[in-house]
Amino acid sequence: MSCNLTVEIAGVSFKNPIFVASGTFGYGLETQELTDSSSLGAVITKSITRHPREGNPPPRIVETPSGMINSIGLANMGVERYIDTVIPRIDEIGTAVITNIAGFSIDDYLYVMEKLEACKAPICGYEINISCPNVEAGRMEFAVDPELTGRLTESLREVTKKLLIIKLSPNVTGIASIALAAEQAGADAVSAINTVFGMSIDTQSRSPYVQTNVGGLSGPAVRPVGIACVYKISRKVNIPIIGIGGITSANDAVEYILAGASVVQVGTANYKNADTARSMIDELELYLAENGIENLSELTGGVIPNE
Ligand code: SIN
Repeated sequence: MSCNLTVEIAGVSFKNPIFVASGTFGYGLETQELTDSSSLGAVITKSITRHPREGNPPPRIVETPSGMINSIGLANMGVERYIDTVIPRIDEIGTAVITNIAGFSIDDYLYVMEKLEACKAPICGYEINISCPNVEAGRMEFAVDPELTGRLTESLREVTKKLLIIKLSPNVTGIASIALAAEQAGADAVSAINTVFGMSIDTQSRSPYVQTNVGGLSGPAVRPVGIACVYKISRKVNIPIIGIGGITSANDAVEYILAGASVVQVGTANYKNADTARSMIDELELYLAENGIENLSELTGGVIPNE
């Protein structure tokens, strides 16, 4: 039985629903020797900001039980250099590229997007990071406020016809309301979730392992949080949801899809093995064949909730 893994989001077609998450796959060019990125559904770049950023002082990553805390602080080359050095090589990635943008004000986000639109970057869309927990200036300002999320989304919508995805934070009381604000302001999709606030302390030195004390927890430890967020969002919005958080196997991806995700992103698992996402595609196809499912879309939101 042949299964159809293609997915469409707002008119953009992806060869399969397995994407790689921002911040875990560089700019899409660094992993060439480690995996075949051309077989992935899409590559989401590291967050790009208006100016280059060194990020937070080290140490900025620590392993935790079933997860990892990061406090990178949006280290990146800045939009000018991204346009000069990565954009001309984007074809080498061999699949759809979505550029992730971060900022500290609406102007910052607009600046980066306008630059990319002006150079006609051959990317299929943007993921807007409103949910980085690791920067002081404007910390989570957009992610926690539906009105600000709406204003930002609306401003960006005016600048691009490309795919516009808003990446949400789990560190809020009502993630579904933030998703709804993004939908009403013109977002094509939402991604959920970014990292969960986390802290881990060295009991000998009594110092937290990451320099900023608190960071963002990712990996299998957060998977149930991500799935619950996707489920809640799917009850409130009609736009596609991109599920993220602790996905390490096709079975994990199917959990997210049943909860309401149309596609998923593999993140922290890439640090262990950059080939994880690619290897999940065959596994997913097998799951569909074994369960007699011809089209992946039949699974989206297919959870049967308990009465
Ligand atoms: C970081 O750069 O600190 C992580 C990015 C994010 O969590 O959005």
